[in-house]
Amino acid sequence: MKKLFVEDLKAGDSVFGELFAVKNYKKTATRNNRPYIDITLSDKTGFIKGKIWSDDMPNCETVEEADVVSVSASIEDFNGAPQAKITNMSKVDKYDLTDFQPSTDKDIEKMFDEITDAASKIKNPQLQKLLQEFLSDKDTVEKFKRGAGGYTVHHDYLGGLLDHTTEMLSYVPAIAKTHSKINKDILTTGVILHDIGKVHEYEVSTSIVITPKLKLLGHIFMGAEMVKRYGEKAGVEEKLLDEILHMILAHQGRIEFGSPVLPKTPEAMVLYRLDDMSAKLNTAFKLLDSGGSDGDLFTSYQRNLETELYRSPYVDDLTNEDIPF
Ligand SMILES: [Fe+2]
Ligand SMILES: [Fe+2]
Repeated sequence: MKKLFVEDLKAGDSVFGELFAVKNYKKTATRNNRPYIDITLSDKTGFIKGKIWSDDMPNCETVEEADVVSVSASIEDFNGAPQAKITNMSKVDKYDLTDFQPSTDKDIEKMFDEITDAASKIKNPQLQKLLQEFLSDKDTVEKFKRGAGGYTVHHDYLGGLLDHTTEMLSYVPAIAKTHSKINKDILTTGVILHDIGKVHEYEVSTSIVITPKLKLLGHIFMGAEMVKRYGEKAGVEEKLLDEILHMILAHQGRIEFGSPVLPKTPEAMVLYRLDDMSAKLNTAFKLLDSGGSDGDLFTSYQRNLETELYRSPYVDDLTNEDIPF
């Protein structure tokens, strides 16, 4: 378990055999042709720039970005910021990923239990079988459990995909109770499966990396393809499978947001709104939590929210626990 984090490092410190992830690694040279390596080390608390000078290169293994390395270094001041002068560096294979990536503060297994529990309550036997195909696909489920919900904007951390999906799932009973014409089985199935294409979209290692598949295909197509495969294997009749596929394809609500079709069923309309609400609220709370000087009433402009946000002075007075519902 890592004990020393980037946020603790300050000029004058010495570091012996501490683990960091390699964020950037570039061989280069000074103006006088003295070779050196420009490197950025990171963990879940931030990053620090570093240098490996030619004298120290023989003691430093050649590494690649996203590797985890054991580092010995002295921390120096460079233009007011700490910088690592690395004297020894070697790659390691055993580490705890959560030291290097922000992760959900919720229990991943408990969240996954919520998904399996909701799936087990589905009454339609075909949809039940469809979800079982997904839930028994071990490799996909492992990626789903630790996957990120996004790259930079919403739920962009380990377990974020599960956080996002279970949050959306938690609204389904209330919606189905209020709107009895909503098909709860279809909505539940759509919520659980809507973002499964993201397991192929982001490679989650020491940093979240967008795979070439995302750039070429996107998570909506990937997810629909997976659901089609699971559905056909489960023997779901074509018309019903089309409705579920429609949920996946329409979940971003608008063509300019990446959905090839607009929501054409009440369940697809709800799914789009739940997805949008979950993403936007996550972005909003992240923005409100991120610093700002004392007394700043508004945050910076956020492109996805298309506005800045107001820091309510009443926020600390609110306690939801006292609200009787
Ligand atoms: Fe999505
Ligand atoms: Fe989503």
